[in-house]
Formats: sequence, structure tokens, C-alpha cells
Amino acid sequence: MAEGKSEGSISLKIELTLLSPFQLNDQLTLTNRIVMAPMTRSMANDQLVATKEMAAYYARRSAVGLLISEGTVIRRDGYGYPNVPGIYTQQQIDGWKRVTEAVHKNDGKIFAQLWHVGRVSHPIYLGGELPVAPSAVPLKGILSRRKDLEYGMPRALALSEIPMIVEAFAEAGANAIQAGFDGIEIHGANGYLVDQFLHHNTNRRKDNYGGSIENMARFAIEVVKAISDEIGPQRVGVRLSPGAYHYIEPDERDPEVFKYLLQQLNLLEIAYVHTGIFDDSMQFDYLSGTATSFLREHYTGTVIGCGSYTIESAAQAIANGEFDLIAIGRLLIANPNLVEKIRAGKELIPYDKAMLKTLH
Ligand code: FNR
Repeated sequence: MAEGKSEGSISLKIELTLLSPFQLNDQLTLTNRIVMAPMTRSMANDQLVATKEMAAYYARRSAVGLLISEGTVIRRDGYGYPNVPGIYTQQQIDGWKRVTEAVHKNDGKIFAQLWHVGRVSHPIYLGGELPVAPSAVPLKGILSRRKDLEYGMPRALALSEIPMIVEAFAEAGANAIQAGFDGIEIHGANGYLVDQFLHHNTNRRKDNYGGSIENMARFAIEVVKAISDEIGPQRVGVRLSPGAYHYIEPDERDPEVFKYLLQQLNLLEIAYVHTGIFDDSMQFDYLSGTATSFLREHYTGTVIGCGSYTIESAAQAIANGEFDLIAIGRLLIANPNLVEKIRAGKELIPYDKAMLKTLH
């Protein structure tokens, strides 16, 4: 078949890459290689419970091979944005049941993205308490949803508190399975708590969780293992940002931490590693390439690429072997029926920020 771009025809490349099924592991086979990227929508109710509108929003997109939920908070001190859903109360678990049932009814699959923001927060979201972080390193800048407020100095977690956060991640994993999710993704990317442990800029600890490559990777590995023990490694994915680009300053020593972490993840038979970035054409000198090329080089399992890909560029990258699955974010907000449109060779609606106002 010739590569056609005209409406009504799709190229063989897209057919063979994006629309072909993919066996993630013994437990999970995806109907195609398009993943919905996790996207915070801040539309949970005031108890931070997923609503029926959210269920319909995810269900509308369930023709993708795998949906990843918006970041979902594992415990009370993990918030940094308004009306973000949680997964630590029974009411929240029940709210998510509505979502997973709606997705499964349409034969879709959905993972919950488990999130703790660490220092990317403010006492207004934390009942007046300071945000927690690996170290007391202030975050400079203005809150994305409250332009009148600045981030500030977090409180360094005491050594004795860290196992409790690991345990909260494990409980959230178990809660996700109780809520009917097919698995979970650990939000280890984009400058939030897990990522804060992995970068020198934000981790200045001198105990077991900082100061050496092994110590800096310890928290992330403990979280992966604790959740894997609860729900099985095949249901656990990890999102990582080896290149600091969001809420964290780069440091040339960081890649060694990520190389070590990825070596350890290679031994654990988890479901996948997923690039956390907005634009994957960004080159990082200290990674000798892009964030995804770094993950591909050092991780031997399934890699999900992400970050400003078009349908054509994603198909080409998969054909080149740059990654195995593509996570699409903004185009899926603009085109709930993305898979159907691709299959029919229909033109896509471009994303516009104004689309974030509703859960279309
Ligand atoms: C995001 N992104 C994001 N990432 C993440 O890991 N957890 C999250 O909760 C969110 N929230 C979020 C909200 C909104 C409105 C956007 C646009 C993005 C990042 C997202 O997963 C993805 O990495 C980027 O959108 C880049 O992919 P696209 O949109 O270029 O395909």
C-alpha cells in the first residue's frame, strides 16, 4: 500500500506500528500501541473523588491501547493542585470504580497514575502545613493555578517518615486494583516527589536516601518494589524524567543515578518505563540525546515515548525502534475518538488550551 495522506486512507506504517496489538506481558495485551498520557484536569469533586463526568471522559477515549489516568494522589500531603483526585479513602476508591467500569464496558484498559508532588505545593493545599521533600531546597516561582502565590521552602522528610510514604504508595497500588484499574503508573517524573529524590538539585540528603547513586535511587526502587509486592510487577509502570526540565535544575551527575535506577528496573520485570516530558525533541547534553533515547539505551523492557509527537512522527519513531508505545496527551483531549479518526484517515482537530475548561 502506498503512503497516502489524503483523507480516507492511512499509511501502512501507521497501520503496522500504531494500530497493531502489543503484548505488554503475560497479563496484559493492548489492542494498539497508542497510550493516553496522564493529564491532570482538576475536575474531581471537593472530596477529591472522581466524578461520573470523568468516567464518561475516560470511556470516550477507551479505544486507545491503554489509558493512564491523571495524576492521582496517594495521601493527604501529596497535593499541589486544586480538585485533583485521590486514591486513599473508600469514597475515592468507589469514585474510581465508576471510571474503570465505564472503560471496561468499552473493552478499554486503564492504569492509575500514582502521585505525590513533594515540594511542588503550598500550605494552601496542605491544611497550612509545609510541603515535604527529600531536602529543604526552595522551589522558586509562582504557583501554576494561583498566580498570586509563590512556592517556597519545603520541609525535609525525617528518615523515619520515608517508609511511611513508601507504604502509602503500596496501599494506593492495592486501592487502585480494588477500584478496578488494570495496573498503576508511578509518577516518577516532571519534578515531583520521586523525581526530587533522583536529582542532585533537590536531593542533598546525607543518609540512606542521598549522597551516592545507590542512595539517591533507593526511594524510587523501594516504591517500585513495594507496589510490585502488592499487585505484581507486571501491573506496574514507571514514568521518569532523566533530563531535568520541569521544577528541577539540571546537574551533570544526574545521569549516573538514572543509569543505576534503570539497571535495577531491568531486573524487576515491570510493565514499562515511560518518558515524562512535554517535547521529546529536546536534546540534553548530559544525556547525549533525548530523554527517550536515554531510557531506550539503558532500559531493556518496554519503553513508552511521549512529548509533542504527531501521529506520523510517532509511527516513524516506533518503526525506527526508538520506543515501543506512544503516549499521546493533548491530541487526545482535542480528539476523543483519536483511534477511530486515525483508522479512517480523518483530519485531527488541533489542541487548544481553551479545551481544558470542559471534560469533553
Ligand atoms: C500533562 N502532563 C502530565 N504528566 C503526568 O505525568 N501527570 C499529569 O498529571 C500530567 N498532567 C498534564 C495535564 C495537562 C493539561 C497536560 C497538557 C499535560 C504531561 C503529559 O502527560 C504529556 O507528557 C505532555 O502533554 C506531552 O505529550 P503531548 O501532549 O505532546 O502528546
